Amino acid sequence: MNNFEFYNPVKLVFGNGESEKIGVYAKGIGTCALIVSYSNVDFYGDLFEKIAGFLSAEGIESHTFFGATANPKITEAIAGVEKAKAVGADMLIGVGGGSVMDLTKIIAAGVKYPHDIRKMIKFSHSSDVQIAPTEALPMIMIPTLPATASEMNPTAVITDDETLRKSYVWEPACLYPKVSILDPSLTLTLPAYQTASGAIDSISHAVEPFFFSDEATYGNIDLQSNMQLGVVKTIYDNLPKVLADPNNIELRSVMQFSATVALNGWLTCGVQGWTPMHQMGHVLSSHYKATHGATLATMMLAWMRYFATRKQNERFVAFAKAMWGTDDLLKAADIFEEYIKAAGVETRISQFGCTEASLEELTNGVVEVSFSSDGTLASIPPIIRDEAYAIYKLAL
Ligand SMILES: [Fe+2]
Repeated sequence: MNNFEFYNPVKLVFGNGESEKIGVYAKGIGTCALIVSYSNVDFYGDLFEKIAGFLSAEGIESHTFFGATANPKITEAIAGVEKAKAVGADMLIGVGGGSVMDLTKIIAAGVKYPHDIRKMIKFSHSSDVQIAPTEALPMIMIPTLPATASEMNPTAVITDDETLRKSYVWEPACLYPKVSILDPSLTLTLPAYQTASGAIDSISHAVEPFFFSDEATYGNIDLQSNMQLGVVKTIYDNLPKVLADPNNIELRSVMQFSATVALNGWLTCGVQGWTPMHQMGHVLSSHYKATHGATLATMMLAWMRYFATRKQNERFVAFAKAMWGTDDLLKAADIFEEYIKAAGVETRISQFGCTEASLEELTNGVVEVSFSSDGTLASIPPIIRDEAYAIYKLAL
């Protein structure tokens, strides 16, 4: 096991109806809240009026910034910072999925950030000099889409809409929310596609540390591997049930807590934590209209198929055996693809509009943002440019 340090200060509140206590949890954190959510909040009915009422009952003033879109953009963060400053917000409340929570983090740090907000993010891992944020307004998250675990990690993913580069900032010093309220009742009305693509994203969060572990250390199935597989299997078994019975609060509860556990740091203690499939997936969603979870579906399948023909694929084979009882990676990928299709999520990048002619652009995209100066994408084993191209091609 590698040495590690674990730090996670998020107060996690879980339970049906717990979001109604937002005022109680916010009291003591701030007196003027900016509530951040999507540019279209019709889906939520009167949720925001209720939240404002709960805050008001505790003497907390609130304002709204409905400016987040899927795959949030730098320009949205700049507008959010302006709004937060204009209303004098001293805390932020993110209500929505990963896009909303990530945008909330960038705004919270952006209010305190003395530089161009783009400097906060490393948009090129080989050349950009990042100036990490050191402070942020305190944040409360109410996730309504189980997927990214942004509610319990210090990461925010954002796209520079000028360059179409999508990257992330990970900063434990200031990007952890103070409190996150997981209220599964808020997920009961989540449409099937969002439910499924969120679940596939969560699966990928546990699959990546399983695939990209250090063979010398993880030759055997150990605690981390079992935890990762446990999360994957739980979500994998649960997703078809929740799609068939969307109003089942117990099933929704399992989905929500599983998503949080998948990327709150527990699964990567002592593990490398490379995310090459995410890095390649980000290019798909910044260049094409593709949902984050769907991009991960295409990448997990393509990586399994690519490593079917490669040496050093022991972890992929171990995964196929544990999940489907086969050491044939191509067969395992076929079974997994049928499962994802049945859940209604895309499995091929051609479904996002990519063609053979797109492969160079996609490969250039991941090289520009995520490749290191040594010409590789961090992974075990490291991936070179030609391999990234081959993986995208297998995903067509
Ligand atoms: Fe993800």
